[in-house]
Amino acid sequence: MSNTAGGEPQSPQSGPRRQLMQNDPFSQPAYTDSFYAAVGGHETFVKLIDVFYDGVGADPLLRPMYPEEDLGPAKRRFLMFLEQYWGGPTTYGEERGHPRLRMRHMPFQVTPEAKDRWLFHMRTAVDSLDLSPLHEGTLWDYMERAALTMVNSPSAAPRT
Ligand code: HEM
Repeated sequence: MSNTAGGEPQSPQSGPRRQLMQNDPFSQPAYTDSFYAAVGGHETFVKLIDVFYDGVGADPLLRPMYPEEDLGPAKRRFLMFLEQYWGGPTTYGEERGHPRLRMRHMPFQVTPEAKDRWLFHMRTAVDSLDLSPLHEGTLWDYMERAALTMVNSPSAAPRT
């Protein structure tokens, strides 16, 4: 008996596999439930966010996008989101409700350049964790795909 690719056997009555809801950031297969614990839990995510925001805070394109002078509250929101997404505490949802991240980024001009800068700092942050290649790849793949979905503005017009 063979399984369908990557999933559980389907009964003939179950119909087509339900599509993963692309706009639901909490929609993820069950095998990532333990990712949060497997990579070291809270300490690991705090380090990721600390290193990432060190980069963002010094970035001339990204820093002005953050509305608050103190980056602390933004750091905390992102930390809570990622912890919940990867199977940790659900504080984000309790405090902020559904993430609706694309909508929450609409007030900001997320250009392809901003996305590249964001990913540059995220790359440094992910590298700082020294994860196993599998965990590193899983986390990085998610970040790349999520960042791409957040782009909501075209490149700044080239100067003529
Ligand atoms: C692509 C480049 C991105 C840029 C330039 C960007 C920029 C921003 C800015 C300016 C804020 C507002 C800061 C605040 O007050 O909270 C924000 C919030 C947030 N961002 Fe991003 N972001 C990007 C991508 C992402 C990605 C890929 C994720 C998820 C993996 C993410 C998750 C969040 C979360 C969770 C918040 C707080 C939402 C809330 O209000 O509850 N961002 N982002």
